[in-house]
Amino acid sequence: MRLAGRFAVVTGASSGIGAAVAERLAREGCELLLVGRDPRRLGAVADRTGGRPLQADLRGQAGIDEVCAAAAGTVALLVHGAGLGAAGPLADLDAATTADLVAVNLTAPMQLTRALLPTLRAQDGHLAFVASIAAVGVADEAVYSATKAGLRGFADAVRVESGIGVTTVLPGAVDTPFFTHRGRAYERRFPRPVTAAAVADALVDAVRRDRAEVFVPRWLVLGARVHGLAPTIFARLSRRFG
Ligand SMILES: NC(=O)c1ccc[n+]([C@@H]2O[C@H](COP(=O)([O-])OP(=O)(O)OC[C@H]3O[C@@H](n4cnc5c(N)ncnc54)[C@H](OP(=O)(O)O)[C@@H]3O)[C@@H](O)[C@H]2O)c1
Repeated sequence: MRLAGRFAVVTGASSGIGAAVAERLAREGCELLLVGRDPRRLGAVADRTGGRPLQADLRGQAGIDEVCAAAAGTVALLVHGAGLGAAGPLADLDAATTADLVAVNLTAPMQLTRALLPTLRAQDGHLAFVASIAAVGVADEAVYSATKAGLRGFADAVRVESGIGVTTVLPGAVDTPFFTHRGRAYERRFPRPVTAAAVADALVDAVRRDRAEVFVPRWLVLGARVHGLAPTIFARLSRRFG
């Protein structure tokens, strides 16, 4: 996909991966609509990128509709970067957090994609989803894992059905405020977190080359392949090594 001069919408643009994607797309010459909730952080990214900030809460249809109204007719690249995590045993997760995870990580990308697909088709555009390696199923992140597996399946279906380019990015741990926002630090010694800029570079390069999936770091693809070929062995290894 040619990026210069195209109009891109980035959700989650106020922080972490979304902010890094916005900065990379600005360098590529995209015009940007930056979607987030925190006005101060969103404004700072707008200052750095020249993008237009849009405050919208993606937990509800009203926020989704605001993004659609601002993007319909012109969007050529839609990057689904907004998301939240939750860690801990499933039985300890409260109902409201469970609903928020599904709403922001899965329902909002589906609703935005559904509503903006006619424009993306007309623009010969592209969709990018920020999923996670957790899509293979991670202990103590059951609902988060389910939202990311759902997002990956949704992207796969839209890729086949829509005729436009669809890229799914599956990062491992990334050094962003994600862990502070979810209320539990990243505790594993391995794999080491990568930078948000590395994820943004991988996403933009994959969009350019119309690649279906990209893992960051790349070797994480091995885990996904073992999971696909031998889920029982994968679960045993996962229990053993975490
Ligand atoms: N960090 C990691 O290790 C990691 C690994 C794999 C995948 N991911 C995925 O990468 C994506 C970005 O995460 P990140 O690491 O950049 O985390 P982050 O720094 O916490 O950023 C999350 C972004 O999502 C937005 N967001 C959250 N709830 C929202 C809501 N209700 N309405 C609208 N926007 C909302 C936030 O906006 P406000 O702050 O303005 O509310 C923020 O811009 C997520 O989908 C996450 O699941 C992260």
